[in-house]
Amino acid sequence: MIDQTAPETDFTLLPKPGPGMFAAPLKRPAHIAEDWLEPAQRSYSAEEHRIWDDLYARQMAILPGRAASAFMAGLERLDLGRGGVPDFARMSEELGALTGWSVVPVPMLIPDHVFFWHLANRRFPAGNFIRSRETFDYIQEPDVFHDVFGHVPLLTDPTYADYMQEYGRAGWKAMQHNRLKALGALYWYTVEFGLIMEGDAVRAYGAGILSGPSETVFSVEAKSPNRIMLNVDRVMRTDYVIDDLQPSYFVIESFKDLYHQTVERDFDRLYRNLGPGFTYANTAVIDVDNVVSRGTLEYHLRGGRGSGAEPV
Ligand SMILES: [Fe+2]
Repeated sequence: MIDQTAPETDFTLLPKPGPGMFAAPLKRPAHIAEDWLEPAQRSYSAEEHRIWDDLYARQMAILPGRAASAFMAGLERLDLGRGGVPDFARMSEELGALTGWSVVPVPMLIPDHVFFWHLANRRFPAGNFIRSRETFDYIQEPDVFHDVFGHVPLLTDPTYADYMQEYGRAGWKAMQHNRLKALGALYWYTVEFGLIMEGDAVRAYGAGILSGPSETVFSVEAKSPNRIMLNVDRVMRTDYVIDDLQPSYFVIESFKDLYHQTVERDFDRLYRNLGPGFTYANTAVIDVDNVVSRGTLEYHLRGGRGSGAEPV
């Protein structure tokens, strides 16, 4: 039972992971404090700046007509293509004037409770390093291109900016209930791999999609994946893959819809009713789904990444 008389959480204070709660075994570098922030953004070599420019140019050849218009507007407002890796201080100043968010440098993936704490205080932690030419096409650990190009443009949208803060607050609740896995699925299917309706067309807004070329095309145009209208309860019961294109994407009507579905949901109650594991496979279409387009799943049935299957 949750103590209903417990005082409101103070989101300015860094939380401690609860007893018995799973925390990824991340080793904090010696120069990093408990907030996991780098003292300053690192400086990049000329080649690293060129890598940013080349990644940027590659995405810009693909995004128009496939990325959400709010994302494209955010890219333009922050002028992220002005050349080289953006300066976090300058970007934060411009972003701060729009929605009160800032971008702060972190050395690597950071623990969940610290990540939630930064989001709850409108700070977006971004990887400090950039990928090399050898890992140009795919890296598992999020780098500055994924974090800044993929995530930051939408933080210029006031409703989306509020959603991200609410997500950080919800993270604390999920920790108290030991339901981080379920909340992680929500992040995955919205912030990383979300689609949005624009008129009759489906566009991508998730950072995991928009920071790479193949999933940008696959998510909105391929026949393989299911596209299903987002239902928060359903998504939080759904498994996901982290190392391949998604078999199912969830579509929102608008960022207002996403915000209301999340903020108006009684997460305490939801967590009490959720099991520790996932109920639905990531390929499943279930009775309650409002399906936008049912996928053939051909890409995944042929074996997905590693099998040489065409992402059709
Ligand atoms: Fe991400």
